[in-house]
Formats: sequence, C-alpha cells, structure tokens
Amino acid sequence: MDVEASTPSPREIEALARRIDRPVVLVGMMGVGKTSVGKRLAAVLGFGFVDADEAIEQAAQMSIPEIFERYGEAYFRGGERRVIARLLDERREAVGNVIATGGGAFVDPATRALILDHGIAVWLDSDVDTLFDRVARKANRPLLQQGDPRETLLRLKAEREPLYRQAPIHVESRSGPHQRTVTAILRKLEQWQ
Ligand code: S3P
Repeated sequence: MDVEASTPSPREIEALARRIDRPVVLVGMMGVGKTSVGKRLAAVLGFGFVDADEAIEQAAQMSIPEIFERYGEAYFRGGERRVIARLLDERREAVGNVIATGGGAFVDPATRALILDHGIAVWLDSDVDTLFDRVARKANRPLLQQGDPRETLLRLKAEREPLYRQAPIHVESRSGPHQRTVTAILRKLEQWQ
C-alpha cells in the first residue's frame, strides 16, 4: 500500500497534532492551493487557520492590489514581514495554527528566516500549467496584471524554486482533490523531526 496516499487514522492524527510544536506554514507559488489546502489541513488537525494575505489586508485596511498600486511591492513586503512575524509569535498562541502565506513571502530573506526559525515550512509545488489554470480566472494578483501571465509564472517559479526548496517539507499539489495533498502533508509531517 502507498503510505503517502492513505489517510492516517484519527488516532494517528491526534498523536501527530500533539507532537507539532510550531505553526505549520504553507509556502509556494500563487495558485498552488495554499489557502484551500491549508483550511482543510487545519480542520483535520483541529488547528486554527490563518491566511497571511488576509491578515495583511485587514492590518492595512486595503486590498493587496491597492497596496501594490499605491505603495509598491517593497512596501507590501515590509507589511507582509511584520504580519507574518506576529502570526508566528508563540506568545500569541501561534502553535496549533496552519498559516497560508502569499507566494512571495518565503522569497524575502527576513520573512524566510522567521518562518524557518519559528514554523514548519511546507512547500506546496505544482507545474506551471496547473498554476496557470488556477490563477487565470482571477484578477487579484498584481504581479500577473502586466505582460503574459504564463510567462510571468514560469519566470517566478524558476527564480523562486531554489528558495522554496529550503523548506524542510516538499509536497506536490497535483490537480485533483485537495484531500490527496492534505494526506501527503500529514504523512510528511509524521516523518518530520
Ligand atoms: C504574491 C502572491 C499573492 C500575494 C501577492 C504577491 C507573490 O498571494 O501575496 O499578490 O509574490 O507571489 P498568493 O500566493 O496567495 O496568490
């Protein structure tokens, strides 16, 4: 039997949830499914779920496209770093949370260091065709609003891959039910130490 494909039993999941002593932080490209997979993973583990992009929008009282348009990417990255630092702060009961980050968060050296030091980074990975299918319908990603979005995804994926690779856990998020990806993450978390 393929262990990575079989869902752990409730008892195994309970034992795993007890053992996880840091927030589980999903990193990877736009469109890979960090938010949907993160919500499901949190529900299975009985953890809370936080979407870092949403937390940034709440803190700024502005949408991400608006932040990019008014203040630029560098300003957004600064806000993203501060928000992620807050979400990872143990004193705020960050343990027992799954955090989905925006695709560029782990690319920023300071944010990456924070995540590697205080969380369990899980790199969700997909091929560019799958990413493109998932982002094509939405216009909420400022980095894809100029030029050919497929080319941009290809370029960003190539640039970012060596950095995402620093995450201790790597899981393929194929097209198809997100539950399969959640199961693969649970199995890898069981092996993580
Ligand atoms: C970005 C990804 C977006 C969002 C912003 C920048 C990126 O989040 O943070 O548009 O640099 O890849 P998602 O990965 O959730 O789309």
